[in-house]
Amino acid sequence: MKILVIGQGGREHTLVWKIAQSPLVEKIYCTPSNAGIAQIAETVSIGDDYFDLANWANSNDIDLTVVGPEAPLAEGIVDIFNEHNLTVFGPNKKAAQLEGSKDFAKQLMTKKGIPTALHRTFTDADQAIEYIKNIGTSVFVKADGLAAGKGVIPGRSIDEAIQAVKTIMVDRAFGDAGNSVVIEEELIGEEASFTVLSDGTHCFPFVSSQDHKMSQDGDIGKNTGGMGAYSPAPVITPDIHDYVMEQIVYPTINGMAEIGCTFKGVLYVGLMMTETGPKVLEYNCRFGDPEAQVLLPRLKSDLIPLLLACIDGSLDQHTDVEWYTEAAACVVMASGGYPDLYQTGKAITGIPEAESIEGVNVFHAGTKQDNGNVVTAGGRVLGVTALGENLKTAIETAYRGVSEIHFYEAYCRKDIGYRALSR
Ligand code: AMP
Ligand code: GLY
Repeated sequence: MKILVIGQGGREHTLVWKIAQSPLVEKIYCTPSNAGIAQIAETVSIGDDYFDLANWANSNDIDLTVVGPEAPLAEGIVDIFNEHNLTVFGPNKKAAQLEGSKDFAKQLMTKKGIPTALHRTFTDADQAIEYIKNIGTSVFVKADGLAAGKGVIPGRSIDEAIQAVKTIMVDRAFGDAGNSVVIEEELIGEEASFTVLSDGTHCFPFVSSQDHKMSQDGDIGKNTGGMGAYSPAPVITPDIHDYVMEQIVYPTINGMAEIGCTFKGVLYVGLMMTETGPKVLEYNCRFGDPEAQVLLPRLKSDLIPLLLACIDGSLDQHTDVEWYTEAAACVVMASGGYPDLYQTGKAITGIPEAESIEGVNVFHAGTKQDNGNVVTAGGRVLGVTALGENLKTAIETAYRGVSEIHFYEAYCRKDIGYRALSR
């Protein structure tokens, strides 16, 4: 098979790395790609017009396209590829609203009785501010639309919450994504990510994982795309796993089908383990990044048949999926300054040395080739990932990998997995 992967981050490098292990696959292409992906896949440089991409895929006999990030999904790349009779993995535009509109997601949860934070949606800033003054509790203010993971602002005081509404709706920090805001109660507890594949009817759960969204040790600082991840997440016990499948995952998938938005692809449920049980913080319609970096290396079975089964509706036939028993940890190395301003174009050394450590894989995120050197090209630069017999070993091995790698003002958190280790 010839495969096209859309995306250029650590998640996509991990996808390409996993797909390359499939005996079904003869050639992989990727667009826009990065320096790590380019070592295993051919880079396609034809811009991001989805019609051009679909025409390219048709002329190059692509058998399967795998879409990594949320933005092309929300913009309808799957619909366009389907119109071109191409086989493509990911939810269509209607289904991707689950991530693309927080209000849409909340309406579905309300309709299906799925546990989540109490909330209200506003299209008017003054009304939102009035509401905040009246309830006066600690809230989270969320831009309705996609904001590259930055559209969620804590409002732990009334002033902070009002400022968040102004940032989103008046200053329009996230453009049209802030045409409306969802204001919800703060949930207290430990977070976990729950990832499943779905063919629209059946669901196949991945092993559990957890990421660290905050920029600094101790889960403080600024919200980022994710500074590291680990799998399994011990907070997801077998009982909680069953509860999430029955009370959250299946009601979500069934609810989507009922409203004509059949969901085929990766459903990522961000959960808060509250005193009264797991509640949904958010849905994503794709693999998490860096969760993919710890989930896919633990999957022993071929990924391609699972992706195809999501498309043709036969996921229930795959009852023999195998996992490695090892745990996995990923430490993100970022450019100093991320998630705010940072420099790029800095030479990276030590990746081969890190990868020579048994169990270590270095997945590239913001990197590119520059005159034969690998240089930084983004905020999150590398995801140094390791498998180990348990989480402690996996985390230690990942940090040994990190210590081999150097670039200007490289920054990473030193405490990835601390909650799991303290259990
Ligand atoms: P989201 O993109 O909705 O997952 O929000 C990003 C991050 O903000 C989450 O991973 C949580 O850490 C935090 N968050 C979002 N909503 C809430 C909430 N209602 N209560 C507590 N934390 C939240
Ligand atoms: N790591 C969180 C996300 O991918 O949304």
